[in-house]
Amino acid sequence: MSTRRSIIGGNWKMFKTPSEAATTAKALKVKLINVEAVDVVVCPPAIDVLPLVEILKETNVAIGGQNMHWEDEGAFTGEVSATMLRDAGCSYVILGHSERRHVFGEQDSDINKKVKKALSAGLTPIFCVGEKLDEREHGRTREVVKKQVAAGLAGVQLSDPADLVVAYEPVWAIGTGVNATPEQAEEVHQYIRELLGEQFSKGLADGIRIQYGGSVKPANAAELLSQENIDGALVGGASLDPESFTAIIKSAEKVN
Ligand code: PGA
Repeated sequence: MSTRRSIIGGNWKMFKTPSEAATTAKALKVKLINVEAVDVVVCPPAIDVLPLVEILKETNVAIGGQNMHWEDEGAFTGEVSATMLRDAGCSYVILGHSERRHVFGEQDSDINKKVKKALSAGLTPIFCVGEKLDEREHGRTREVVKKQVAAGLAGVQLSDPADLVVAYEPVWAIGTGVNATPEQAEEVHQYIRELLGEQFSKGLADGIRIQYGGSVKPANAAELLSQENIDGALVGGASLDPESFTAIIKSAEKVN
């Protein structure tokens, strides 16, 4: 049991139109009105941010973006900036998600620029790392994660551990129904905390929340969240349904 406050994120990916998002947010508002012991953040598609901010404004549920550009503004068709997300009411942004890395070809150096920009704009990055199946099978998990952490956070200055969230999301566990076992996840989380200690300081690393992501469901959340270095979850599929997302948050409250 750590002193870090759990943080549960919902990554809606490219699901839910604004009207569907509003319906889900209204259901979440009712279910999560009393949640105080854990931090909750919902990351909808960019077009759903404004309605969600409005619907959830009297709750403790924060809103996050799923991606952003590293420039302040400019001729970047299809992109959103950190200041746009901030001005719309976001307090978090997911960066370096495996789908951004592997479907859209984002490089560590892009992610590094985004992390720096998010921090300077007052957004808390949810910085994602994780190995692919063949990398794990070849015993390269630590090497991959080490490179992603070192390159993604190169030159990043941090004064408060609450300003950064890291998500360990093994690619083979995302959307597959096959979650990492609590032991597999804990081993990598512990290693990431060591890396964060080298990058920042042990004191800061001890305070940074590291979420696990990859097929988190109500049925496996409690076991994963009870691990010493697992400080929350980044939930994809199960966050789309208010019932199952709430059940995961309740598990985190119990473990806290
Ligand atoms: P999943 O996705 O929970 O559907 O596996 C997790 C994520 O991609 O953040």
